[in-house]
Amino acid sequence: MDWDRLIAAARTAQQSAYAPYSEFSVGTALLSEGEIFVGCNVENASLGATICAERNAIAAMVMAGKRCIEALVVVTPALEPKSPCGMCRQVLAEFHHHGDFEVLSVGSQGERLSMKFSELHPRGFGPKDLGD
Ligand code: THU
Repeated sequence: MDWDRLIAAARTAQQSAYAPYSEFSVGTALLSEGEIFVGCNVENASLGATICAERNAIAAMVMAGKRCIEALVVVTPALEPKSPCGMCRQVLAEFHHHGDFEVLSVGSQGERLSMKFSELHPRGFGPKDLGD
């Protein structure tokens, strides 16, 4: 996995963040079938309408006809690496049909925290849980 390339893409995406309320700009990059999709957070005056960077990257992936996340990088302005929020974990859980994937969070000075999605979101509710 070319983590450096994904981190660079996430940092570029972070620069597009619209975060006038929190001033917490987030960038993400995910890999799907060899392609990188990026997202930034887009806030809203009605704060609850804010969309996180992770969900915007997933929307870009789906728009390109892809359905499977193979790796995810999250960069934030915080010194310590931060992991995706609960709502994003739920949306991530929808799109990993080929098994588990690695999530890498990166702090402002480059500190890395790596975890499997299954560690981040154990026993979640997903597409396989609908029905009997
Ligand atoms: N945010 C993300 O983009 N991703 C996360 O996983 C956590 C939070 C954004 C939402 C909001 O614009 C700002 O960070 C502060 O919560």
